Amino acid sequence: MDVSQAVKQRISTRAFLDRQISEAEVRDWLETAQRAPSGGNVQPWRVIAVTGAAQQAVIELAQAKLAEDPKGEATDRPIYPADLWEPHRSYRFRVGEMMYEKLGIPREDKAKRIQWFSRNFRFFDAPLAVFFVIDERMGHGQWAHTGMFMQTLALLAEERGWGTCMQECWGILRPSLKEHFKLGETEMVYCGMAVGYPDTDHPVNQLRSERAPVYEFAELNGF
Ligand SMILES: Cc1cc2nc3c(=O)[nH]c(=O)nc-3n(C[C@H](O)[C@H](O)[C@H](O)COP(=O)(O)O)c2cc1C
Repeated sequence: MDVSQAVKQRISTRAFLDRQISEAEVRDWLETAQRAPSGGNVQPWRVIAVTGAAQQAVIELAQAKLAEDPKGEATDRPIYPADLWEPHRSYRFRVGEMMYEKLGIPREDKAKRIQWFSRNFRFFDAPLAVFFVIDERMGHGQWAHTGMFMQTLALLAEERGWGTCMQECWGILRPSLKEHFKLGETEMVYCGMAVGYPDTDHPVNQLRSERAPVYEFAELNGF
């Protein structure tokens, strides 16, 4: 598979087959992705991969915590800026509407939408999950570099026939995850990622999110 193909076919996969990924495969995947660049080669990321009982323990933790408060726990690093502005606000709205349309869940059916969203906290039944841990002392540059590592993993997953869904939603359980994974004092979970063989027949995996045309985001000078 060439890189363009991997980039074009990657989607956020939100339904998976019941097919395991082995430890050897996970190790190889992580080792290859470690070639991702980072400023000063700082390699600011740390990952925790969970499957089987370890994954189930995280799912149960999430269920218990979200039963206490469905909004989760406070964080000083919210998923989106407050009052997201245009055009980003509309992009966000649009992809949500497109997803629920694929699932046949109308806007009025808030309960079903919430129920679907809560599948995030079961990793959409993926057999593997990865958490990306970063040291809070790192600056915005290192957060960006961690994102590059994540995208490298997502593309390498495509090559392996796997699907991925990055899951920043786990940010609403940062204090609990920190305790659960016994993170260092200055460490925090930035994001999760569900990983597995995609259920290509599932309607949610038919979603192809849109992108703004190049002229809207790119300035090309001096050609
Ligand atoms: C860092 C990051 C965090 C994300 N968090 C979530 C999430 O918590 N739950 C979810 O369903 N999708 C999540 N997404 C998926 C985005 O909604 C998705 O990438 C976007 O709509 C574009 O769709 P595509 O990935 O299918 O191209 C996340 C994506 C990124 C890059």
